[in-house]
Amino acid sequence: MSQLIVMGNTHLKGEIQASGSKNSVLPILAATVMIDEPVVIRNVPELKDVQTMISILQQIGKIVTFKDGTVTVKSGEILVGNVPYELVRKMRASFNVIGPLAMICGWAKVGKPGGCNIGQRPVDFHLKGLEAFGFKISEEHGDVTAIIPSEFKKEIIYALPFPSVGATEQLMATAALMAGSHVIIENAAREPEISDLQGFLNSCGASIKGASTPTIEIHGVEKLHSTDYTVIPDRIETGTYLLGALTTKGDVKITSARPDHILALISILEEMGAGIEKDSDWIRVYWRGPLRPVRVYSEPYPGFPTDLQPVMTSALATVEGTSILEENVFENRFGYVDELNRMGAKIKVSSRQAFIAGVHGLSGAEVTAPDIRAGAALVMAGLAADGETVINNVTHIFRGYEKFQEKLGRLGAKMAFYPDEE
Ligand code: EPZ
Repeated sequence: MSQLIVMGNTHLKGEIQASGSKNSVLPILAATVMIDEPVVIRNVPELKDVQTMISILQQIGKIVTFKDGTVTVKSGEILVGNVPYELVRKMRASFNVIGPLAMICGWAKVGKPGGCNIGQRPVDFHLKGLEAFGFKISEEHGDVTAIIPSEFKKEIIYALPFPSVGATEQLMATAALMAGSHVIIENAAREPEISDLQGFLNSCGASIKGASTPTIEIHGVEKLHSTDYTVIPDRIETGTYLLGALTTKGDVKITSARPDHILALISILEEMGAGIEKDSDWIRVYWRGPLRPVRVYSEPYPGFPTDLQPVMTSALATVEGTSILEENVFENRFGYVDELNRMGAKIKVSSRQAFIAGVHGLSGAEVTAPDIRAGAALVMAGLAADGETVINNVTHIFRGYEKFQEKLGRLGAKMAFYPDEE
């Protein structure tokens, strides 16, 4: 099992640059399936999840190169409409190729993702939406097959039961190539990554408007063409290091960032009494004295992001008084709390709420990272703790944070990584 050994009693201090957004680049890469001409995507973070999506594109028959943060996708000779479960199992975002792939091959068969450490995470909204578009959906032996209709309806309206990020992206990308159809997606997710996907597809000749509002309107086009597109900075990575600054009573500045994408976080940090300075493309957060406890609700954007919920818990673990964190997106995202409690935190979970009674300090312990964001939360806690923290299963973190050790090292962290023995 991979391990990270983190030295405690650290105050993260310094300046680092935000990486490109993982959750933007994954659906953008999935959408490249529909584009024959060469596509260049810049500011791509070097992450395991990005590699997985690249493997899927290669498996389908695309020719992909990835160098110095730039991915180039070109058409190969064959296009296979089949993505095995093995690749979907590694990363749920793989399922986002099913609509685009079916648009090109007429059909697509993709492994159905199972549950994961943060919840059941079904894909029913993706499938109901595709059915509303006229696709024939069937499931057999753990695979989902989607077949396009002989003709798409002229007017389609589909209202999502919940503003799912992945389903909005799936449906928006698929509809982009439904020539002659006018598609409206209601109750759409409004995350900045949705706007980024719209920006990418429109740069390829798609006709999409409304991203960042609850109603997205798409006029399907015959063909998408080549583009050279730069993805947005990763708001969750930015938020993670800013919360790390507070957890460790430090002072961190993130450049090449988009503070306007983390306004819900900034208002909570203000309420906590953190020092904050920012401009349009950088933000600095620093500890300037004891923080105040807060009540935080995770919600779809523009609410407080569920992906920052675990790192927020680490930051609140040593804030005097009781803070309350309510998780409203995933049903099971407190799996890391027992690990933080092993480090001396006093957190009780009741249903969707975590009650965090601030302690004087944390102490290093051996803990296990259940997922990407919880892994980052344990590292921040370990940096603040007294003594050494051993974090198991740490490869999760590298799925989501580019140059994680290097960036933390630049902020003064001391840690050692031991990869899997196999
Ligand atoms: C995206 O996942 C992100 N992943 C997640 O980031 C993020 O936590 C999540 O959005 C919420 O912001 C990527 O963008 C690659 P959803 P996604 O569909 O699209 C339920 C990270 O750490 N739902 O918005 O899978 C679902 O179970 C990751 O970077 C259905 O019931 O999230 C959940 O409770 C983890 N049926 C809620 O909706 C569906 O068909 C929101 O899920 C789809 C979703």
